[in-house]
Amino acid sequence: MKIHLLTPFSEMTKAVISESILGRAETKQFVQYNIVNLFDFADPPHFRIDDYPFGGGNGMILKPEPVFRAMKSLDNNSENTRVIFPTPDGKVFNQNIAYDLAECRDLVFINGHYKGIDQRIRDELVTDEVSIGDYVLTGGELPSLVMLDAVVRLIPGVLNSYESVETDSFTSELLDGPHYTRPDEYKGIRIPDILLSGHHKNIDNWRLKKREEKTKERRTDLWENYIASRKDIKEDG
Ligand code: 6GU
Repeated sequence: MKIHLLTPFSEMTKAVISESILGRAETKQFVQYNIVNLFDFADPPHFRIDDYPFGGGNGMILKPEPVFRAMKSLDNNSENTRVIFPTPDGKVFNQNIAYDLAECRDLVFINGHYKGIDQRIRDELVTDEVSIGDYVLTGGELPSLVMLDAVVRLIPGVLNSYESVETDSFTSELLDGPHYTRPDEYKGIRIPDILLSGHHKNIDNWRLKKREEKTKERRTDLWENYIASRKDIKEDG
């Protein structure tokens, strides 16, 4: 997979990638990053990439030229490319979107860091407008990196054991349950006896029960879907 990040903050983007599993994924040659500094595509003598909004109003708007030029410079084969614009008015990112994006050959993230970006960029270049939740951040870099982290870890081989992806919260519609490691008693707190019992079937049942309890308590939305899908399975069978 090739991942292009168009940004006015290329150093920040590089720093996060190089200090994380995102960077290891490139070293292991599962992905390749192409970090594009939008200022490289601005016009001399001022090299501005933002400008005032037509019609008035507060805040600066990312200009179209640097983004269109940067997009044109990419050597992507276009048939399986998604162009993502992180924005609080996009559809809300989730695990299913992560799986969907993990299938792509090329991903392009366009990061604005201003009040907004020129609408022509959104109309002509962007395929997916995505938010990471109902709160406002200063720019698209962190949301892009959040989404990228969720996508890259799904590529088989990136994590040391693909197993650990399969029991993730959300992959099976339930939140993840409690985990324990040695010692079996710490500060007087013992781990649940069942984990030492050696009865794998009972342990599996206990883990499922814990996941169900947590999901029911914290996320009624997920819990209702889970109950509904289990009802379908029973009716089909
Ligand atoms: Cl994608 N961008 C910004 N600026 N703020 C956000 C967001 C994105 N998602 C949630 N808040």
